[in-house]
Parts: sequence; C-alpha cells; structure tokens
Amino acid sequence: MSVGIDEISFYTSNYYLDLKTLAEVQGTDPEKYYTGIGQEQMGMAAPDEDIVTMAANAALPLIERVGTDAVGTLMFATETGIDQSKAAGIYVHRLLGLNPNCRVVEMKQACYSATAALQMACALVARQPERKVLVIASDIARYDLDTPGEATQGCGAVAMLVSANPRLVSIAPEVGNYTEDVMDFWRPNYRSTALVDGKYSTKIYLKALKKAWDNYADISGHAFGDFSRFCYHLPFSRMAQKAHQQLVRHNKAGLSAEEQEAQICDTLIYNRMIGNSYTASMYIGLTSLLENTTEDLSGQRIGFFSYGSGCVGEFFCGTVVPGYRDALHLQRHRDMLAARREISHDEYLQLYRHQVPTDGGEHGFAEGTTGRFRLAGIYHHKREYIPR
Ligand code: HMG
Repeated sequence: MSVGIDEISFYTSNYYLDLKTLAEVQGTDPEKYYTGIGQEQMGMAAPDEDIVTMAANAALPLIERVGTDAVGTLMFATETGIDQSKAAGIYVHRLLGLNPNCRVVEMKQACYSATAALQMACALVARQPERKVLVIASDIARYDLDTPGEATQGCGAVAMLVSANPRLVSIAPEVGNYTEDVMDFWRPNYRSTALVDGKYSTKIYLKALKKAWDNYADISGHAFGDFSRFCYHLPFSRMAQKAHQQLVRHNKAGLSAEEQEAQICDTLIYNRMIGNSYTASMYIGLTSLLENTTEDLSGQRIGFFSYGSGCVGEFFCGTVVPGYRDALHLQRHRDMLAARREISHDEYLQLYRHQVPTDGGEHGFAEGTTGRFRLAGIYHHKREYIPR
C-alpha cells in the first residue's frame, strides 16, 4: 500500500499588488523584484479574510467531493496563529461541516509545519488506511513597510487530502532532517509582522538544505540523479533557484543552466503571482508543477526541501502517480488567479494597515473577499465566521 497526497487545492486572496507598483513608489528598479528576487505580484488579504477563511476556501472543493464523513483528522499548519489556545482548524471543521468524530490539531514550526503535518498524516493513514487526513496550511506573510522583506509578502492556503493509494503523489517514509536554534526570522507574540535577518536567513536556508540532503542521502541511499524535479520552500522564487544551483554543485551533477532550470521552473509559476504563503508555499509549488508541466510526470520522483526558519529543514521524496492529471483542480485554480483584481499602492496600504483589532472591543469587518467564507467581525472576544 502506498500513502500520500490524493488531492490538492489552494486558495489565495482576490487582491494583488504588482511589484512594479511598489518599485515605482520606492524609486527601485522593478527588475530587482521581477528578476533579482523573481517575484511579480503579491497577494493581499481582504479585511474580512484570515487564515481560517482561506483554509476553508482551499479545502471546500475536496470536501465537496469526498463528503464530510471521510476525514478522520484535520491538521492545520500555520504561523499566523489567531489564538494562543484554540486551534484555528476547529473553525474550519465547523465551516466545512466535518463529522464531530474528526480530530483537529494546529501545528507550528514556521514554514516547515505543513511538512510535519503531511508526514504525521502519512503515518496515521498507514495505521488506519480507511481514514483520510485533511492537511491544511494557511498563512499571511507580513513584513514591516520599507524593509527588504516587504516585496516578499503574500497570502495563501493549501489543502491536501492524505490517503492510502493516493491519486497524485505517494510519499516515501525516508526523510533527511536538520535542526538548529538560530534567529533568522521570528515573530514574537506581541508583533503582527515578522522580524528577519534577511541575508542571514538565506544563508541558513542553504545550510539546512545541504545538511538535510546529506542526512537524506545517507538514510535513503538515493542519489541526486534519481530525481527529475525538485520542489523547494518558496519565500521568493529566486531562493529556489539558488538552492537548486547549490544542490547541483554539492552533488557534482554537471547539469547545464537550462537543465537545472527545467527541474524547478514549473514549481515557481504560482508563487511569482501569490508571493510567500509560508507553510503553504512549497505545496502551492507542487500544485504549480503538476498543473503546468506539459510532460507527463507519471512515475517520476520529486525531491522536496521544506524549510522553516528558526530552523528546521527536511528533504524527502514523492513519486507521481500515473493518471494524476485526472485528480487536479487546474481550471479552477487558473480561473481564481485570473479573476483577481490588481490594487493601487494606496489600496495596498489600506489593506496592509487593516489589522484585526486587539483592543477587545466589538468590530464588524467590511465585505471584501470573494471567497465562500468571511470573517464578519469580533464580538464578545469571539471571531464570527460566516459563509457568503
Ligand atoms: P535585499 O537585501 O533588498 O535584496 O532583499 P538584494 O539587494 O540582495 O537584491 C536581491 C537580488 O536582486 C540580488 O541578486 C541583486 O543582485 C538583485 P543575488 O545577489 O541574490 O543573486 N538585483 C537586481 N537584479 C536585476 N536588476 C536589478 C537588481 N537590483 C538588485 N536592478 C532579502 C533580499 C532576501 C534579504 C529580502 O527579500 C528579505 O529580507 N526577505 C525576507 C526573508 C526571506 O525571505 N528569507 C528567505 C530564506 S528564510 C525562509 O525561507 C523562511 C521564511 O519563509 C519564513 C519561515 O520559515 O517562516 C522567510
């Protein structure tokens, strides 16, 4: 029996800022963003949108297909937590109408936690193959204005059904890990934006890749040449290109620049349009690969490198299942991205400055999302989520 990702669906906000607009206001060459960091647009969440509404929107198409009783566990990965105690996934459980016997838990380790959730989901399915696990990763990436991180914001959620004999990608049990206590990126509880040592974070990312790969190669016996494509954590698309160049060099793989780029370029397409979605970004990258690669990937191995600042890195392997194209949500994803509205710099600032209030008062939020769920307001210290 194989175990892995049976179906995958993502969601992002209906608003985006083109990075040339940001560059114009800043007096920066737009090519710094388009080419230098490899990003074109970044998603901006509506005032009535948060990790819960994005997560429910991402998962709804999966639940509409399998039914509300099919899921035995919902694992919610995020670093944009909305409560110190209650798991955000419990709101999603209600919005999706999942069975009361479904367990729910929230997981955290920066951008890595979706991978922890996926691995634990695979272990649960191996123990109880008749039950599916719903893994959701949902985040809003925010940095301070006028900092180098500003152009790498974004938002998005991804939902994956993990099952026995999956239709998309089977996940192998061998993993390579690297953990080190570093302060490259973090967000103390009293802040709504992350603190980051940008250049250092890219160095640590690359170090974790090398260490996790070495550990993976030792444990699995696999070599670089066993993989045809690579999915990296995507804080911005140029990071994946740097990571892949390093892995090629490290393995003395001797590929041309074009051959290297062909191994990752299709994973970057959606990320360039959405920006960093933290926990969700590598899996939106996987969706981008499966939906945009014209070659049939059936039977091919994908190498995954998941990274979460702080830091944990993990390298693992997935094999694409023959017939995978029949299980994709390609048209819906393309329609969603095409229907987004470009915003001006003023509108961007308005959305950026809209924070869910922390004063404990009563607040209703204006309708802005075009998704199926919205955060209507906060009343008596409780978030009120409703369908729309
Ligand atoms: P910066 O320091 O302003 O950028 O921000 P820069 O000056 O290094 O320029 C970037 C690239 O653009 C350079 O290329 C320039 O040469 C090029 P490189 O040397 O890197 O190859 N460039 C141009 N190219 C063409 N035309 C031009 C031009 N001008 C410059 N005119 C930085 C970069 C990454 C520091 C910033 O974006 C940042 O702080 N980002 C946030 C942190 C981040 O994303 N780190 C990534 C690793 S950590 C991670 O992935 C985890 C994370 O997702 C969080 C989590 O785990 O929860 C962040």
